[in-house]
Amino acid sequence: MGKKQRLDKVLANLGYGTRKEVKKLVKQGKIVVDGIKAVDSGMHIDPETSVIEVDGERLYYREFIYIMMNKPAGVISATLDNRYETVIDLLPDEYKTFNLFPVGRLDIDTEGLLIITNDGELAHMLLSPKNQVPKIYYAIVDGVVTEKDVMAFNEGVILDDGYKTLPAKLKILKQGNRSEVEIEIYEGKFHQIKRMFDAVGKKVKYLRRISIANVKLDENLKSGEFRELNQEELDMLYEYVKRQ
Ligand code: URA
Repeated sequence: MGKKQRLDKVLANLGYGTRKEVKKLVKQGKIVVDGIKAVDSGMHIDPETSVIEVDGERLYYREFIYIMMNKPAGVISATLDNRYETVIDLLPDEYKTFNLFPVGRLDIDTEGLLIITNDGELAHMLLSPKNQVPKIYYAIVDGVVTEKDVMAFNEGVILDDGYKTLPAKLKILKQGNRSEVEIEIYEGKFHQIKRMFDAVGKKVKYLRRISIANVKLDENLKSGEFRELNQEELDMLYEYVKRQ
């Protein structure tokens, strides 16, 4: 049995409009709970066990939400902030009551794949250093990235605080005064990619995460857009962390 919640809150969570709009649906007699027409939109129900029908259609409550967002620059990976807009602020109201949070952090100027969920267990597994979940980033780097850097990253580099990173795979996509690379890491230290390039005397000018575990950022998502993960992607995440 789950926790009892207000009917209007449950329906709002499921995308049936604001509480006011739900109240209207109740007034119109369109909502039936356990076979009885609801009269009070504030009635308490157990969303996991009550049978709720809207306009004759049975609803299926869900406890967990999994979102992939193409995080834009200028927005922070947090739930609340009094200075900056957060990734949670970018979500529409119907998601607001789910207590969603971003899985890990991307820097304010980093773009790309961010998973947002309310599933603490999955988040913990994806973030746990012992699972060594691979993350791939695309970066534009000031300076000529060379085979020597590829080898150094493959060995692990020493960061400014003395920590030696795990081996990372560096792929040079375009070599020049401004190089383009793809880099795969298996941990998530603070500013890790930028600090790894600092360690070889180069500056990251642009950074975008393109995959986590084997889940890739959907190319159809424009900056700031999001969609829920599909079952296949969710299975990929679960499979990945369970296999470890
Ligand atoms: N590494 C960084 O330096 N920044 C990020 O946002 C992610 C990884």
